[in-house]
Amino acid sequence: MDEDIVATILDLYHKKDWKAIVDTYRDHPDRNKVLWVYPTEENFNFIGKCMRDLKCNEILSIGCGSGLLEWMIKEVTGIQVSGVEVDGVWWQCKYAPPTFIPLLITQPTLDKDMISLLQKCQNAALLFCYFNNRDAFNEYLKYFTGGTLIIIGPSGDKYVHTDPKPFGDLGAEWSLYRSQEVGQTKDYIAVYTRKEVVT
Ligand SMILES: C[S@@+](CC[C@H](N)C(=O)[O-])C[C@H]1O[C@@H](n2cnc3c(N)ncnc32)[C@H](O)[C@@H]1O
Repeated sequence: MDEDIVATILDLYHKKDWKAIVDTYRDHPDRNKVLWVYPTEENFNFIGKCMRDLKCNEILSIGCGSGLLEWMIKEVTGIQVSGVEVDGVWWQCKYAPPTFIPLLITQPTLDKDMISLLQKCQNAALLFCYFNNRDAFNEYLKYFTGGTLIIIGPSGDKYVHTDPKPFGDLGAEWSLYRSQEVGQTKDYIAVYTRKEVVT
């Protein structure tokens, strides 16, 4: 088994071989060093179709980590994906994993620039993959003006904690549109849409 997963993934990234990355590392014991979820080709196509059907031309991924997932979504679907991370010090230090897209760095308390970005996101989907900070999630949603959310994370019987969960309660404003399992991993991609406000 390959020991230096980070170096090998970096090499495959330079060769733009996203398929080898997901096929080789989906079940690798060290996969979380770089990314928590390695979607299948069917999953990428599912995300792409949902985005097209919901008229989203962009994805803003909150807590994107290395940005590997975001780079692969862009490679496979052609959709523009940006990534947001907190804690600039960690992401610029020498022990941090490599980053596969430029990171937008924000403060734990959302700064003016991030609030303004969220307010301009009418045609974007907000993505949270293995996010684990409910207060921050609520804060992002407070300013997000778009109508689509993608939550990727473990189902209840995987015994891994994330918040929000793919099938957790997102509040009355959001309803589940479509979902798909990531291979047979018990991780799910759940797409939500904002409910129409009836006046
Ligand atoms: C478990 S990791 C998942 C990383 C990546 N999405 C993945 O699937 O590999 C959760 C990430 O959320 C980030 N995070 C936590 N609070 C955040 C906040 N308020 N804004 C943006 N990112 C945040 C953490 O720094 C961490 O990288």
